[in-house]
Amino acid sequence: MTIAFQQCIDPDCGATYGVDEVHVSCPRCAEHDRVSLLDIRYDQTDDVSFETFERRWMTKGDEGDGALDFSGVWRFRELLPFYESTDQVVTIGEGRTNLQDARRLAGEIGLGRGRLFLQYEGLNPSGSFKDNGMTAAFTHARLIGAKRVACASTGNTSASLAMFASLSEMRGIVFIGSGKIALGKLSQALDYGARTLQIQGDFDDCLRHVHQIATERRELGIYLMNSVNPFRLEGQKAIMYRILEARDWNVPDWIVVPGGNLGNCSAFGKAFLELRERGLIDRVPRLAVIQASGANPLYELYTKRHVRWNDGRYDRDAVDRLYAEMDDSGYKPHTVASAIEIARPVNLPKALRALQIMDGVVREIDDDTILEHKAMVGRFGFGCEPASAASVAGTHLLVEEGVIGAGEDVVCILTGHELKDPDATVQYHTGIEKPDPQAPALPPEGRLANPPMPVADDLEAIIAAL
Ligand code: F0G
Repeated sequence: MTIAFQQCIDPDCGATYGVDEVHVSCPRCAEHDRVSLLDIRYDQTDDVSFETFERRWMTKGDEGDGALDFSGVWRFRELLPFYESTDQVVTIGEGRTNLQDARRLAGEIGLGRGRLFLQYEGLNPSGSFKDNGMTAAFTHARLIGAKRVACASTGNTSASLAMFASLSEMRGIVFIGSGKIALGKLSQALDYGARTLQIQGDFDDCLRHVHQIATERRELGIYLMNSVNPFRLEGQKAIMYRILEARDWNVPDWIVVPGGNLGNCSAFGKAFLELRERGLIDRVPRLAVIQASGANPLYELYTKRHVRWNDGRYDRDAVDRLYAEMDDSGYKPHTVASAIEIARPVNLPKALRALQIMDGVVREIDDDTILEHKAMVGRFGFGCEPASAASVAGTHLLVEEGVIGAGEDVVCILTGHELKDPDATVQYHTGIEKPDPQAPALPPEGRLANPPMPVADDLEAIIAAL
């Protein structure tokens, strides 16, 4: 039997709420002017085994619960059992992604052959890892009877939300900023029929507004789909389950992930903690969270100011001080990795917790280095978007620092599809400037630049070029 509930992550509060309630932070802490995130927790007595999950995948849904068994999230459903019946589950076939043994790339970044693995979350239906989280949050939305769902987004969340909203017949609303927006992603939100509001502001402004609407204007009945929603993170745990499954349940030494709003790293820490508590694994991998230098609040707090989770009693004043300094200096995050251009990550406390659980490190990478590694992933793998390549650049740095050993097994999470930011890719290869004057300065051509060759409309000229 399983009992699921929501719980405040602050150990001095620990208030619990039913899963049929909708909160994005702890109401009891709010009464004391504190903001605390919620977790989904389970009292469980049922046994689960890795074999059950594998069998579901092998039978591709021909037996048992068809669509659920063939989902890369719900075939692990005993590890996120917050729903009441499987009929409530909203699934679109998310999570059928690949773990690639990236042998050539391993050599390029100083790792031994067969030591580097790339988890391609861009292969999800909407083109990013977000589908793992949306399937769980939409399931909760259906459970509580939501009709309208909303998110703030730099692109991927909006595409995923819009796709799930259309397929589950809910009204999707997306808030995008007026700065950089990946056109491929915007086109998805428009095509899937989401109401799209372009706000005069950046991602942090959009998130603040949509959060206010969901929490302070409850009469509007708008359900919040950003990763501050703890149900989203339940789905994102499945990325770790699939990696373990692809490795025959052998735990790697490192998980390396880009950090923006810090939902993924938070979910990964929870996934490994729960697997260990349930006796399914006996050790957890180490975690590396990689931020862009132009949007690096976690790096600043964890690596430079040594803020630690400290079993939940982390230094809240240090966080407030950093944010006050950012306000005073007019700080605006700025990076070519648009997906992680975030100044105030909502999941910061959970990320600190994950770093404690997984003995983690945090690094920052500049834009040129991110683009160089994006080109390497393209040349030696299936390609990814700039934010995702931060994980490979971060691995390279950690190998050079000697923090990651050449003989250790490393899994980099490639969070989004290469086709999200074609401008950045084409600019890297051709050196042709982007028309957007606000775009960060980039090198005219990268080391792996592969520009198209102009050739006359003439057979001999074409053969000469070949
Ligand atoms: N990678 C990609 C491709 C993303 O789209 C995002 C977030 C992240 C990483 C950061 O993830 O929160 O787990 O640290 N994109 C959001 C969006 C902001 O709107 O699509 P995190």
